[in-house]
Amino acid sequence: MHIFSTGKEAFFSMKEIPVTLNQNPKAKPQDEGALGFGRIFTDHMFLMNYEQGKGWINPRIVPYGTFDMDPAAMVLHYGQAIFEGTKCYRREDGGLQLFRPADNLARMSRSAQRMGMPELDEETALEGLKQLVRTDADWVPHRDGTSLYIRPTMISTDVGLGVHASKTYLFYIILSPVGAYYKEGLKPVSIYVEDEYVRAVRGGVGFTKCAGNYAASILAGDIAEKKGFSQVLWLDGVEQKYVEEVGSMNMMFAYGNRIVTPKLNGSILPGITRDSVLKLARQLGFEAEEARLNVEEIFADAKSGKLTEAFGTGTAAVISPVGTLALRDEKVTVGDGGIGRISQKLYDTLTGIQYGRLPDENGWVVRL
Ligand code: COI
Repeated sequence: MHIFSTGKEAFFSMKEIPVTLNQNPKAKPQDEGALGFGRIFTDHMFLMNYEQGKGWINPRIVPYGTFDMDPAAMVLHYGQAIFEGTKCYRREDGGLQLFRPADNLARMSRSAQRMGMPELDEETALEGLKQLVRTDADWVPHRDGTSLYIRPTMISTDVGLGVHASKTYLFYIILSPVGAYYKEGLKPVSIYVEDEYVRAVRGGVGFTKCAGNYAASILAGDIAEKKGFSQVLWLDGVEQKYVEEVGSMNMMFAYGNRIVTPKLNGSILPGITRDSVLKLARQLGFEAEEARLNVEEIFADAKSGKLTEAFGTGTAAVISPVGTLALRDEKVTVGDGGIGRISQKLYDTLTGIQYGRLPDENGWVVRL
């Protein structure tokens, strides 16, 4: 990395994204075993503005800090807010690498399109993302299973209460050193099948990573947590019969060597980890299919033992085995309730590639 610094201002050589270095850097977390998820933020952030007629302008890296925001800013009223999640991993040799970051930014543009927001300048955003991570490289944790979580976000900033698309937007990226998303780590989680509330419906915004999808999940998630479950499994919003996703992860089910996952239908997030796991599973010799999955059948198969494993996939969740499924008043243990053979193999393979322990035959890794 080349940073040309003149006092407070510094310029990277590659694409002239100006960097204002933080003069009061924070202390890095001492205990990487206690990071949790998304509680600590690094010293810098990337910002870029959009103005109708000008496009994306003024990319810059500045000290991490609060925003000044008008109380009538449209995002605060009508929720034009979308985000992404990707990670930077530290290799054993100390080098840093990203995993499919361009795919996250491309998905953000698809979310933006559906939300009436401008598509991203993906090239500048990717350059900004890389330069931001390089600026805060010392924040990428070292401990096994930890990483630097990268959160690109886009919000509308016009001031006014008329319901129409904003003409100005802010795109920003913040970074957070993280450990496991669930307190269980790779240990199996228990999931409650939500049969009252729904997350998304046909023709809606379920496939986008808009903030509202997560807001819609909070009440049900909270009720499930109080009952002792980690998350809820959402069913389709029309018949409430078919498995969709878990909000923080896509779901996969294994029957011996065959893996099935809900087919993308417009109301499920097209997960980048989901896509990677489907490809890796096939490359490892498993069968992997996308299908419409009836929850009653899945539940009956779990009871009869036909269903051998269930697991979630996501950037934050990585691969998260599901040990218990609950539907209405009934609970069933999936397989032997432990970490299944396929979940473990896929976890080892995916994280092996992400942390540079295994070769990346799919061209997913971007070295920094
Ligand atoms: C991710 O896996 O990156 C997510 O965005 C899920 C969750 C933390 C909201």
